[in-house]
Amino acid sequence: MKLFAALASPFVRKVRIVAMECGLADRIDLQVLATAPHQPDAALAAANPVKKIPTLVTDDGAVLYDSGVITDYLNAESGHRLVPESGAARWTAKRQEALADGLLDAAVLCRYETFVRPEEKQWDGWIDAQMGKIDGALEQMNAEVPDLGDPAAAETGLGAIGFGCALGYLDFRFPDRDWRGGRGALADWYAAYARRPAMQATVPSG
Ligand code: BEZ
Repeated sequence: MKLFAALASPFVRKVRIVAMECGLADRIDLQVLATAPHQPDAALAAANPVKKIPTLVTDDGAVLYDSGVITDYLNAESGHRLVPESGAARWTAKRQEALADGLLDAAVLCRYETFVRPEEKQWDGWIDAQMGKIDGALEQMNAEVPDLGDPAAAETGLGAIGFGCALGYLDFRFPDRDWRGGRGALADWYAAYARRPAMQATVPSG
């Protein structure tokens, strides 16, 4: 399988960790792109009309995106090692993945607004609205820590992987923003979760 990737992308990180935790990492051929949002890579553009990373090309030649579809595919390929095929636990895991992705959507938009867009064109009210979404997601994640299980256990879940990638991205791109303040449960959970081998192997860069 070929995975179009950028090493700074938290969505790519989530997919890579899912592959590792499902025992599929050896089957992934990582194609690291030096991509910018306004200058997409030509091979990626040929595979995916919306030019998003991560994009996965399966061994059968199917092109899969976005990250939630890819995590579903990898989980199914592994015989549902990470997320049950059906039932309440499946929907909790997918909803937690969406919660973390929602935080990341807002954080990546803020990153582009402040890093890519010229300063005179930045819109503070819009940035504040995205930060409000991030704070709302963090409150919910903090409340859900008891459901995540032991962060050092041999097996982890999709929701925990999503939470770990979201918090890791905040530390990576927004180091001055104190997401830990008033959220001790989430901070303690993340301190332990960040030590997992799959988290250590995918620390963002770029
Ligand atoms: C980043 O550089 O922060 C980034 C790169 C790719 C996707 C999302 C974020």
